[in-house]
Amino acid sequence: SLVHKLRGLIPLEVYLAEKMGLDRVHIVPGDIDQDPKVLKELGKLAGRFIRDVVQDDWVIAVTGGTTMSEVAHHIPPMVPGKNRVLVVPARGGLGEQVEIQANTIAAGIAQRLGASYRLLHVPDNLHGDKMENLLTDVRVQEIISLNKGANLLIHGIGVPEEMAQRRGIDWQEFLRQAPRLPVGEAFGYYFAEDGSVVGVTPTVGPKLEDLVKLNMVMAVAGGKSKAQAIMAVVKRGFIDVLITDQGAAEAMQQRL
Ligand code: F6P
Repeated sequence: SLVHKLRGLIPLEVYLAEKMGLDRVHIVPGDIDQDPKVLKELGKLAGRFIRDVVQDDWVIAVTGGTTMSEVAHHIPPMVPGKNRVLVVPARGGLGEQVEIQANTIAAGIAQRLGASYRLLHVPDNLHGDKMENLLTDVRVQEIISLNKGANLLIHGIGVPEEMAQRRGIDWQEFLRQAPRLPVGEAFGYYFAEDGSVVGVTPTVGPKLEDLVKLNMVMAVAGGKSKAQAIMAVVKRGFIDVLITDQGAAEAMQQRL
């Protein structure tokens, strides 16, 4: 049964948390790479975690992606009595499809929780002066400062080459400019195996320095193919809680 499978994964959760320096690791049975239904379970588990920790007046910041989209779809309705919760996107659009953009996910999570939301209504594919100008906009600054004070940040983790493709970035060109091989991605930042930042997708939103200061950061990512990516981002040291699947968890165990 599911309960038995979950119980069987507890030692691995404890082991990974200790070895990787995380407060908590939660693992759902299965591997997203083999069985897409596991993604839904991952979303549900993350959703329950959010529902259980959220307090009155909390600001929750979220990124985009298909995993975060599952979180938004499967988050259980808010327990009654939590008030004035606000959900904000931690990124603008990043040139991705609207269904998986941080804005859409922020609105979706807020709806399920009975919370309010604010959006970053800005294009993300701007460079230089145009981007600088956007960042001086008071409404953009407001969202950025809400992010800086977020009580909970929830984000996805991706494999750099796939992320570059999704965003229409020339991967070969990107590789040429990166000082080291990017193996993990989160919030538009690309990380090498040791957790160092080796590339950035220009975006409107808080900087990595702002996000790493937050008290509770939860990453949601699974699938054996993401094991190396998750490890690289965890190395950076800002993640507190990791929600993953058995496929990624066992592959990470082998690499530790
Ligand atoms: O693009 C937003 C984002 O959260 C990325 O930072 C992350 O790498 C990716 O989505 C994860 O996407 P998915 O959940 O679809 O694998």
